Amino acid sequence: MPKSHYEWDRWSPPVIGEHSLAKHRILREYVERYVQILMADPRRDLLKLTVVDGFAGGGIYQLATGGEHLGSPLILMDAVESAVAKLQRKRLKRIKVAADFVFIEKKADAHVCLESVLEEQRPGVLQSDHVKSVHGLFEEELDGVISHINSRGRKPRAIFILDQYGYSDILVDTLRSIFSRIPNAEIFMTLAVGWIVAYMNGETNAGHILRKSLGLSAAEVEDAFLREDADAARKRRTVQAVLHQTFSTKLGAQYYTPFFIHSRESNKSYWFLHLANSWRAHDEVKKLHWTMENHFRHYGDAGTMMLGFDPRKDNPDQLDLVYAFDYSAKGRTTDSLLEELPRMITDEYTDGIQLRALAQSLANQTPATESLLGEVVNKACQEQLLVKKGRDGEVRRPSTTTKPNDIIYPARQLRLPWPHSK
Ligand SMILES: C[S@@+](CC[C@H](N)C(=O)[O-])C[C@H]1O[C@@H](n2cnc3c(N)ncnc32)[C@H](O)[C@@H]1O
Repeated sequence: MPKSHYEWDRWSPPVIGEHSLAKHRILREYVERYVQILMADPRRDLLKLTVVDGFAGGGIYQLATGGEHLGSPLILMDAVESAVAKLQRKRLKRIKVAADFVFIEKKADAHVCLESVLEEQRPGVLQSDHVKSVHGLFEEELDGVISHINSRGRKPRAIFILDQYGYSDILVDTLRSIFSRIPNAEIFMTLAVGWIVAYMNGETNAGHILRKSLGLSAAEVEDAFLREDADAARKRRTVQAVLHQTFSTKLGAQYYTPFFIHSRESNKSYWFLHLANSWRAHDEVKKLHWTMENHFRHYGDAGTMMLGFDPRKDNPDQLDLVYAFDYSAKGRTTDSLLEELPRMITDEYTDGIQLRALAQSLANQTPATESLLGEVVNKACQEQLLVKKGRDGEVRRPSTTTKPNDIIYPARQLRLPWPHSK
């Protein structure tokens, strides 16, 4: 388990770590975008949404540079209010976002602190029907929370923030039950993969915890963690590959972003995952990662083998290349995709594939957004490796922006060496 936990006292709040600030920026911007995108149709004037902060914390921090910084519960409330204000400026008709917030916190001190911050920042809010603050355990409250969400409409919308400290408080079964009962739900969750890797070296009960929390079999735990005697970077990639299997097959969510927040304070990384059945939501989260260079890391391939790590084939020299969603990462992803896409489209899509369908099929396999895939398609068209056509079958010039419904075909003669050799 991570050693440094936040301790909450309203008069001496904990100092927030840099990694938590990065996480808060993603949450704030994502929730704002979420509301704006769902309300983008000018005919729409009502959105019902429930936001659940299941590991809410004490609601306030100190900044190392001085001053206070609000915790995730108020960031989420602010984000919804700010989106509504921005939308309302462009509309004559009054819009309504009926957002319910549920905040759950296990520790009494943190919960008391959270309620006093909520009362200071939004007087009277705790007496309203729209904000519920619970002193309890997320896993014990979940059933009631899901019933409440489902009582709000036929296809209810909900965002869950599950910001656990380690890796054992959120079980795979819990995530699966959220998606099976609320298919439109989206989940942001933390998973301390760095600690999983470290613990696998020594602690004997860690395997048991992993089996329980991630739903792995004893053989999978043995395979992934115990037989591997390589260094931490290689081990981390092995862990990722196993978790990739878990997340892509056991949760009932079609898409997930498996990027890391690197904590310089503890020199350990943890996954900040976004899980959803909506591809659009997934692509928006990826776009946010690309706007925050150097805060998030990806320890995998730059192209289409994001997490498909095979320890026997992987080149150890590549393992420690930092992928920080910056200029160099973009260059590496572009180069890898430029090599992989023409071959993939020639092998698998001889009748062509729309850019949107390609982006959806590669969503869990590449850090590239749809728009970056479109840029690579253009480059490949310039190099006459691919051809793109518009809706009416007209060949589109490489200089035009690739549209989501453009169809991409293999060029008749692929000019790459064949079969591929490095
Ligand atoms: C990382 S902190 C949350 C920080 C908060 N999300 C923020 O960004 O401001 C995790 C919190 O979850 C609480 N917690 C731990 N296990 C819990 C559980 N099973 N149910 C609810 N809260 C829990 C801890 O007491 C701690 O306050």
